[in-house]
Amino acid sequence: MTTRIIGTGRCLPEHIVTNDDLAKIMDTSDEWIASRTGIRKRHIAKEETTASMSAEAAKRALKQAGLSPEEIDLIIVGTITGDYVTPSTACEVQQIIGAENAVAFDINAACSGFMFALNTAHAYFQSGIYQNALIIGAETLSKIMDWGDRSTSVLFGDGAGAAVVTKGDAGLLNFTQGSDGAKGMVLACKNRSNNNPLISTSKEMKYTYMDGQEVYKFAVSKVPESIKKVLAEAHLEPEDIKYYILHQANIRIIQSVAKRLKVSEEKFPISLDHCGNISAGSVPILLDEVNEKGMLEKGDKIVMAGFGAGLTWSACVMEW
Ligand code: ACO
Repeated sequence: MTTRIIGTGRCLPEHIVTNDDLAKIMDTSDEWIASRTGIRKRHIAKEETTASMSAEAAKRALKQAGLSPEEIDLIIVGTITGDYVTPSTACEVQQIIGAENAVAFDINAACSGFMFALNTAHAYFQSGIYQNALIIGAETLSKIMDWGDRSTSVLFGDGAGAAVVTKGDAGLLNFTQGSDGAKGMVLACKNRSNNNPLISTSKEMKYTYMDGQEVYKFAVSKVPESIKKVLAEAHLEPEDIKYYILHQANIRIIQSVAKRLKVSEEKFPISLDHCGNISAGSVPILLDEVNEKGMLEKGDKIVMAGFGAGLTWSACVMEW
């Protein structure tokens, strides 16, 4: 018995911002952004919220899975940009879609959030708890960007991706996950400021800070290492994999991973060119794009991998 994906869905905000649009509000250019990252445009939320996009992606995934919201007994949302500190985005989704029989909670694992949600659902299934889960990766990163900092604000976008997972005979073959809190400050965003008049504290609201080169070094070593680990333990070779669905941070990271695994870049579908980096949303949004295009057939083997703030990372190999 393992965990199988039976439906996928995504939701992106209507408003699209190109690199040229950004060049009108900050000192940057399409050439700089596209050549260093591969990003050409991203969706930025205006009316949409993390919960509304999550719920829409969830409805689409449920429709494809042929399940009703009442049949879902677990909802996990990977996000670092919930609309509220509490209630969780997962509880908001539960209410919006009417999944009244589910237990719902969020996971904060940044760009690994969807992967950690998948692994958590799998662990519940393995222990005999729960049958059907909705796992979501969703972000409204535009609200935690410093729009005066061109080195970070150009990289990210907003959106949500969802998958319905259930117990099945085929599906998840192996996974790995890890964290390194000692390196947490290379990619960080401080929580809201404290206005308690009884203590003296800074009122400054912090936004996302990133040491891009440290993140790059982390990603290009840890991602291929964890993919090699899950494949070796599953007695598979890199060529056995049809597609590598990687977190969409930067085209150069993806090219480096392909090189280190010695597989063609054609096996690495891309959404970062039109979506930017959506942290926990990247993997499920790309998975849904690939699925919607009919690129996956029963029995195909895919790798999914997330990596990012925490630091956190996770990779899995799955039979479709
Ligand atoms: N437009 C124009 N110039 C810029 C911009 C911009 N948007 N941003 C930075 N610059 C300038 C800098 O000011 C600097 O100028 P200077 O030399 O005059 O001081 C110059 O470009 C180089 O800046 P660096 O920060 O050194 O740029 P680098 O070449 O490292 O590229 C990047 C930055 C693309 C983020 C790179 O570090 C990288 O690929 N990092 C990988 C991490 C990553 O992609 N993170 C995404 C999120 S994390 C995650 O999802 C896991």
